Amino acid sequence: MKEVHLEKAVRLIYPRITVLVTTQNAQGKPNAAPYSWMAPVSFTPPMLYIGIQRKETLTIKNMRKTKEFVVNIVTKNWAKKAVACEAKIEDKVEKSGITLRESKKVRAPTVSEAKIVLECKLHEIIETDKADRFLVIGEIVYAENDETISNEEIAMHISGEEFVSPGQSYAVKRKK
Ligand SMILES: Cc1cc2nc3c(=O)[nH]c(=O)nc-3n(C[C@H](O)[C@H](O)[C@H](O)COP(=O)(O)O)c2cc1C
Repeated sequence: MKEVHLEKAVRLIYPRITVLVTTQNAQGKPNAAPYSWMAPVSFTPPMLYIGIQRKETLTIKNMRKTKEFVVNIVTKNWAKKAVACEAKIEDKVEKSGITLRESKKVRAPTVSEAKIVLECKLHEIIETDKADRFLVIGEIVYAENDETISNEEIAMHISGEEFVSPGQSYAVKRKK
């Protein structure tokens, strides 16, 4: 085993599921940004967490204003478009090539290309005095999936420009 510098310690937590978070501003203009620090935090009610850098990014601003967002799970076939939404440019959503459609329970739009969609109401944005990320907690109010999705399609983020998709699943016996 080789010691890893603490600066790189959290990079050892990989691969992480890649999501495109869609929001809209008070005027209804949509925004989308990719994230991979995302995990479930509660089963009942269903809730999730996203780690977002402590800056007033468009995503955070829109979440504060509208209290809603949609987590669109990214698959290999549209990963390039999702990553293009990282750009800090005007009209990045239109330029990325993703298409948006109406969501079922929230005003923030859903990505048409997504095969797993989690519509969320913002529960809380936690700002700790130490961490450099906001802990955004959302409650899932509507979920849908395309049942034909296979594990191999899911785009997992390693770091930087490196992604991987899960291979074949296998069983590990659990004592109950
Ligand atoms: C694959 C990928 C994963 C990312 N994951 C995160 C993340 O988990 N947290 C974060 O703060 N930024 C993450 N980013 C960077 C944001 O997407 C970037 O800050 C973006 O410009 C924010 O856009 P916005 O201003 O529209 O909110 C990621 C970028 C990429 C390409």
